[in-house]
Amino acid sequence: MMSSRFPAFFFIISFLSALCSSSEAQSDDQALALLSIKSEVGASSPNITSWNTAFNGGPCGDKWVGVVCDASGRITGLNMSGFYLKGKLPTDVFSSLTNLESIDFSNNELQSPFPSLNNLKNLHDLNFSNNLYKEGFPETLLSLTSLVELRFDENNLTGSIPEEISNLKLLEEIWIGGTNQFRGPLPKGLASLPNVKTLTVWGSDLNQKLPPEWSVWVNLTYLNLHDTNIHGDLPSEWGAKFTKLQQLSLYNNKLTGPIPDSWKGMTSLDQFRLKNNYLSGPVPSWISQLANASDVDFVCNYLTGTVPSVFVYKDTWQGNCFDSDSRSHDQKCTGDGTCKGGPPTEDSHDHFPTGGIIGIVIGLVILSCVILAFGYVLWRRPDYIQRRRCRRDKGADNWEVPQGVRRFTYKEILKATKSFDQSCEIGEGGFGKVYLAQLEDDKHVAIKRAGDMSHQGMKEFQNEITLLSRLHHRHLVRLEGFCDDRDEQILVYEYMSNGNLHRQLFDKHAINLNWYRRVEIALSVAKGLDYLHSFADPPVIHRDVKPSNILLDDHMIAKVSDFGISKANPEMDTHVSTRPAGTAGYLDPEYFLRRHLTTASDVYGYGVVLLELITGQLAIDHKRLEDYNLVGWVKPRLVKQGIDSIVDPRLGQNYPVDAYKELAEIAVGCTAFERGDRPTMQHVVNKLEILLASLVPPPENMAPVSLSPGTSLLKSQESSAQFSAGSGVDITNQSMGDLKIDLAFKGTTVEPR
Ligand SMILES: *[C@@H]1O[C@H](CO)[C@@H](O)[C@H](O)[C@H]1NC(C)=O
Ligand SMILES: *[C@@H]1O[C@H](CO)[C@@H](O)[C@H](O)[C@H]1NC(C)=O
Ligand SMILES: *[C@@H]1O[C@H](CO)[C@@H](O)[C@H](O)[C@H]1NC(C)=O
Ligand SMILES: *[C@@H]1O[C@H](CO)[C@@H](O)[C@H](O)[C@H]1NC(C)=O
Ligand SMILES: *[C@@H]1O[C@H](CO)[C@@H](O)[C@H](O)[C@H]1NC(C)=O
Ligand SMILES: *[C@@H]1O[C@H](CO)[C@@H](O)[C@H](O)[C@H]1NC(C)=O
Ligand SMILES: [Mg+2]
Repeated sequence: MMSSRFPAFFFIISFLSALCSSSEAQSDDQALALLSIKSEVGASSPNITSWNTAFNGGPCGDKWVGVVCDASGRITGLNMSGFYLKGKLPTDVFSSLTNLESIDFSNNELQSPFPSLNNLKNLHDLNFSNNLYKEGFPETLLSLTSLVELRFDENNLTGSIPEEISNLKLLEEIWIGGTNQFRGPLPKGLASLPNVKTLTVWGSDLNQKLPPEWSVWVNLTYLNLHDTNIHGDLPSEWGAKFTKLQQLSLYNNKLTGPIPDSWKGMTSLDQFRLKNNYLSGPVPSWISQLANASDVDFVCNYLTGTVPSVFVYKDTWQGNCFDSDSRSHDQKCTGDGTCKGGPPTEDSHDHFPTGGIIGIVIGLVILSCVILAFGYVLWRRPDYIQRRRCRRDKGADNWEVPQGVRRFTYKEILKATKSFDQSCEIGEGGFGKVYLAQLEDDKHVAIKRAGDMSHQGMKEFQNEITLLSRLHHRHLVRLEGFCDDRDEQILVYEYMSNGNLHRQLFDKHAINLNWYRRVEIALSVAKGLDYLHSFADPPVIHRDVKPSNILLDDHMIAKVSDFGISKANPEMDTHVSTRPAGTAGYLDPEYFLRRHLTTASDVYGYGVVLLELITGQLAIDHKRLEDYNLVGWVKPRLVKQGIDSIVDPRLGQNYPVDAYKELAEIAVGCTAFERGDRPTMQHVVNKLEILLASLVPPPENMAPVSLSPGTSLLKSQESSAQFSAGSGVDITNQSMGDLKIDLAFKGTTVEPR
């Protein structure tokens, strides 16, 4: 008791004596203000422990950390950015600090109410970004007539931005984006602030059009309004005026119309982000003047024409319309660059236009005619009839069933799946439906039945089986058998009771994978892929490495699945294609340059999976506003804020920091843009083996792990029950296929020499 009180008592005495000996009352006020900050919000700050009056010099004389003074001993700057401040600043804390020119309290945990700044007539810049303020736009800001830079992004401010902001005539920098939730429209008066250089309001719901009047901002360098629900046309008035504009982010909005030709005047653009809008018209020819820009992104619009060849060597240009994740269902774009539906018109924004209904009726009539005509042509085609017949004659009869796989009869399959009963269905993927089945000997297996789309020639199917039957590895899901009876194409796999990694990481019923398991899984997957790459010459390329294709058995041992399944479409036989392969978020960016997949493309997908294991975040997450691509999110964070800022918070503080750093480095290497910069899977395996050997598993992992073939079925049923959580049909314990797979690009491919 006594010992904890004594320092506080001593502190007060020394502080009072400092006050008494101080000649200037003003300086006392300054010290008092700062000490009230320390006592109200700085209790747990390690940075201001030296703020005290023991040496009698006060904040200026003793050079208190974070305090800037002028020659006459007045505080002009206060920088407490990242000082671990927590709680509420006293409302009048700044009333005696009237000479302040700069305040930086960013990156703390300060809470509402926001203090008064009414006396700060000299305040030039103010930074409260990344705090926890939760209130309307603080009115006290409107009195800061000298303010040039305002940063209040990444808080929880709400409501509309007051028109009076236009009284702050000197404003140049306005940063109020991020987690704030302002309501639009933005004040018209903004256009009367001629000096604006930066405006970022991204993330709020502005629901307005882009004001042509902003063209007065001739010194604008940075405008960021992504994810703000803005709609309407791009103002042609901006083009000639925004000659200094370097960064323009308008992505994830509802902008319509063409890219104005006048925008060729924006010659300083280095980042031009317009993806996920409804822009139409031609790809502007002047766009090639941005050949050296670091980011030009028009993905998923309705633009037509060709992309100038200068962009072919940029990872940032992904063509038009390739991303299908962020569109509502009726507005989806497909991989080949065409879009269903069309861009909505301004009219259709609020109400459904009559013209639209007439259009739909006409469209339906035309569509049905096309379908009828197409059916007729197909029916008449002799080779179509031929093909159906071919399938029936059971392919090449002189085919020798490979050793080690069992040829099931259709009857056996029917029995095992209760005639493909819905209750046995556990997933559906690119190849077709997946059933959990029980064989005569009570063994559980997963049965994949080719749907119409993936039905291929029987010869091809048999070739696949021959290839698959040769691939045996502890970390590849084992092919038990197949059925080619009665024109069926069915694959029988070992059953993996703990479902796929995607569920284990992201499902709401997911059991939390601990830090050790994640490293184990990373190594297992690496081994599986390395085997695929090194087993055959030329190597087998997986082409769709992602968590939903990584399955876990009852010992949580990871195995790679979905390699070499079914060529769904003859187009696939060519290595060079104009259509994207794989799944968005995991796809080798160099694919867009070369239209050609290699083992290094699998390494890229693996790197993304590794990042998901480390961060617990989805590869593509449109709610992650900083960067919806995980690779883009991780890289700058890792450099600037370190490993702690990316590791899955569910792991707590218990993970081994150095090991995870190394893991992150490996992942970053695997996701290098240049294929040549990525390691091989072999290399990754070597590194991870050494890494894992150096780690001591936590106690819960010490239970014996063995892969005995006679694993108790009861056990696997228990663990699957853990996942189903009472739901019936839609359990996908083993979603061997993913619904979003581009059919045309699944399957084993062998790299050409
Ligand atoms: C605050 O103190 C901590 C602990 O000493 C230190 O790591 C951190 O860098 C300091 N922050 C600033 C902004 O100086
Ligand atoms: C405050 O200090 C941080 C470093 O901790 C620095 O990044 C920032 O620019 C400083 N703020 C001002 C206004 O100088
Ligand atoms: C806070 O904002 C000021 C003024 O815009 C800026 O100079 C400073 O670097 C910012 N602080 C940090 C930590 O970024
Ligand atoms: C902001 O407010 C919303 C709504 O109350 C809340 O869900 C969210 O967690 C808050 N965010 C922060 C950073 O405080
Ligand atoms: C734009 O910047 C230039 C150079 O810094 C300056 O001279 C000019 O006054 C600014 N124009 C406006 C309208 O702010
Ligand atoms: C891009 O950079 C290259 C090399 O620096 C240069 O030759 C070329 O003219 C630049 N292109 C444009 C459009 O600025
Ligand atoms: Mg799959």
